[in-house]
Amino acid sequence: MRVVEVNLGKRSYQIFVERGSIEHVGRCVADYGFRGRCFLITNETVGQIYARLVEQSLAEEGFTVKTIEVEDSERVKSLSAVEHLYREAYNFGLDRSSPVIALGGGVVGDLSGFMAATYMRGLPFFQVPTSLLAQVDSSVGGKVAVNYFVKNLIGCFYQPRAVIIDPATLDSLPAREFRAGMGEVIKYGVIWDAEFFGFLDTNSDKIKNLDPVSVEKIICRACEIKSEIVSRDEMDYGIRGILNLGHTFGHALEAAGGFEGIKHGEAVAAGICIAARISVMLGLLSEKDEASIKGLVKKYGLPFSIPGKINCDYLVEVMTKDKKNKGGLISVILPTTIGRVEYIELKPEEIGHLLRKTMFLNEG
Ligand SMILES: NC(=O)c1ccc[n+]([C@@H]2O[C@H](COP(=O)([O-])OP(=O)(O)OC[C@H]3O[C@@H](n4cnc5c(N)ncnc54)[C@H](O)[C@@H]3O)[C@@H](O)[C@H]2O)c1
Ligand SMILES: [Zn+2]
Repeated sequence: MRVVEVNLGKRSYQIFVERGSIEHVGRCVADYGFRGRCFLITNETVGQIYARLVEQSLAEEGFTVKTIEVEDSERVKSLSAVEHLYREAYNFGLDRSSPVIALGGGVVGDLSGFMAATYMRGLPFFQVPTSLLAQVDSSVGGKVAVNYFVKNLIGCFYQPRAVIIDPATLDSLPAREFRAGMGEVIKYGVIWDAEFFGFLDTNSDKIKNLDPVSVEKIICRACEIKSEIVSRDEMDYGIRGILNLGHTFGHALEAAGGFEGIKHGEAVAAGICIAARISVMLGLLSEKDEASIKGLVKKYGLPFSIPGKINCDYLVEVMTKDKKNKGGLISVILPTTIGRVEYIELKPEEIGHLLRKTMFLNEG
């Protein structure tokens, strides 16, 4: 088993990475001293494959488990779904020491975490992420949220007690979801670690074929990088912002698709390439580094430009509503070399102009 530490003072926790650990979730939660009732939140897809195993492991430790299967859709990150969970929690009789366990991808994690953070002012929360994106990103760092008009508008910071990652769960993950998760993995290479970027490039075949050693390596390295960044800036006032590379553009692309057309990790991959292109246009990144970034994104079968019919004005409109903007300017993270990024503020009209130029280049 490999353990990644997330150092956040009193809120510190560990990320356990081990094949087969899905069968030991109960023991892990019990090791934290919890007993009695617990809430297992999953979705219909993941629940069908893994819920029984997790329920059994919890029952073996003497827990009384209530499993809730939510709809398998981004739509479920909603206040009405949270309310449904509150109602179920109340009827089941959860108390402040009852653990809430999220079993699934980022959607289940974000929704369950928000419920756990707010019900009775906070219940102990455990993440058992099963998608690559959730294992390398969303289960770590404590951001929990639901969508409201725009993505993740209502949320808070709420750290889990532990994250239990079983890389073998990726065997059942649809290939497209694995690719999407690679969007976030590539992000870590671009923002932080040129050597890791090189590893992703050299070992792409092994990674795509789910070679256990390579997959475990990327999960652990991604968690280490995220943990390092989050421990320096838990509340996202400074350096944590670099984790948003590709996201300002990515979120706009997701919104343009009404949350359905494009997957988060795909949108991030395209967003990273758009950021790289804009960085080159502003003279901040070399064409060579841009080509490497785009090349790696392509290698993993991810989108590397703005999809055909999307309207640039609409993208800018979405970006102007981003929570991170200040004083009418749009904040974007741009790569300056592989392993380094910079934080830039641009006027909406400048972004619009650069995006149109980017799209024109795509067509050409
Ligand atoms: N909190 C954060 O810091 C953070 C960071 C990044 C993304 N997110 C959020 O995460 C969400 C995206 O997460 P996601 O990409 O995991 O999407 P998801 O939760 O929708 O999972 C993707 C799909 O894979 C299925 N799935 C998951 N694990 C599986 C498995 N092992 N076997 C078979 N099917 C499996 C799910 O049922 C779903 O259909 C977005 O809502 C995004 O906003 C949050
Ligand atoms: Zn993301």
